[in-house]
Amino acid sequence: MKEGVFHVEHSAEREDSVGKIVAVANQKGGVGKTTTAVNLSACVAALGKKVLIVDLDPQGNSTTGYGISKRSVEMGTYEVLIGEAPARDAIRKTNYRADVLPSNTRLAGAGLELIDLPGRESRLRKGLAPIQQDYDYIFIDCPPSLDLLTLNGLCACDSVLIPIQCEYYALEGLSELISTLKTVRRKYNSYLDIEGVVFTMYAGRYNLTLQVVEQVQKYFGDKVYQTTIPRTIRISEAPSYGQPINYYEPKGKGSEAYMDLAIEFVKRNRPRDPQPHRRRNRPAKTEASAKTPQKE
Ligand SMILES: Nc1ncnc2c1ncn2[C@@H]1O[C@H](COP(=O)(O)OP(=O)(O)OP(=O)(O)O)[C@@H](O)[C@H]1O
Ligand SMILES: [Mg+2]
Repeated sequence: MKEGVFHVEHSAEREDSVGKIVAVANQKGGVGKTTTAVNLSACVAALGKKVLIVDLDPQGNSTTGYGISKRSVEMGTYEVLIGEAPARDAIRKTNYRADVLPSNTRLAGAGLELIDLPGRESRLRKGLAPIQQDYDYIFIDCPPSLDLLTLNGLCACDSVLIPIQCEYYALEGLSELISTLKTVRRKYNSYLDIEGVVFTMYAGRYNLTLQVVEQVQKYFGDKVYQTTIPRTIRISEAPSYGQPINYYEPKGKGSEAYMDLAIEFVKRNRPRDPQPHRRRNRPAKTEASAKTPQKE
């Protein structure tokens, strides 16, 4: 991986954080995307922001992580993507302040179905547009791949939050992710930026962890969050109770870490910070010629 930060040069200052869409993505499996999407969204909501989480993964883990049974989902991300339901009708309220656009296994077939639909890479963006202004932040939990579902997430979002697990293979695939982001930016979504990089399941005392951190910081610079998420049993238990960590164990280490991350996230998004922001309702770029970026 070459040094240097993926950076968007824009003179426009963002107006405010209303309707900012953040995709939580890393095609590597099991790095803490869902855990971060669920707990960060719940903590940002606990700070008083209006938050929606979009479950873009057929595994439906962020749906169950918010206590929604996948079997109960009659309308969800799948229906929104294929145009069978408006997002407003598919969004579910939860007991944890944040709303959820849930998924179920029907989403697994969406990748194939989308191929033949017009504007296949921008269906999520279009689907979310009518409700975007209802929220301060919309988090998208992406699946562990760089397929058409993830491409929809990347085309819909303003920025990408990348969770990285500090283990031996952590850097594997990061170059591919970065080059995908660059391609998406060039072809479909010129405002796409990196929101931040967060270390998950962090155990600071090991040499390996420190080496991974050093490498990632060299590349991403100040995009790396100061907050790191420790590995805790409670964080891994919380989804089986259908609760974000700040409800499952409000005073624990995991909850504290995700709350710190939420504070750091919101601070970075303060309107006075000059950051690029996508103009709302900008016209979609050409869709007919859509290709999945990794095939380039
Ligand atoms: N900080 C943590 N402490 C302990 N366990 C964790 C932590 N973060 C994640 N896990 C556990 O690691 C596993 C993978 O996490 P998670 O499902 O969030 O990853 P993911 O990137 O969304 O996976 P996938 O690629 O399959 O979507 C889960 O069992 C989760 O409970
Ligand atoms: Mg996941």
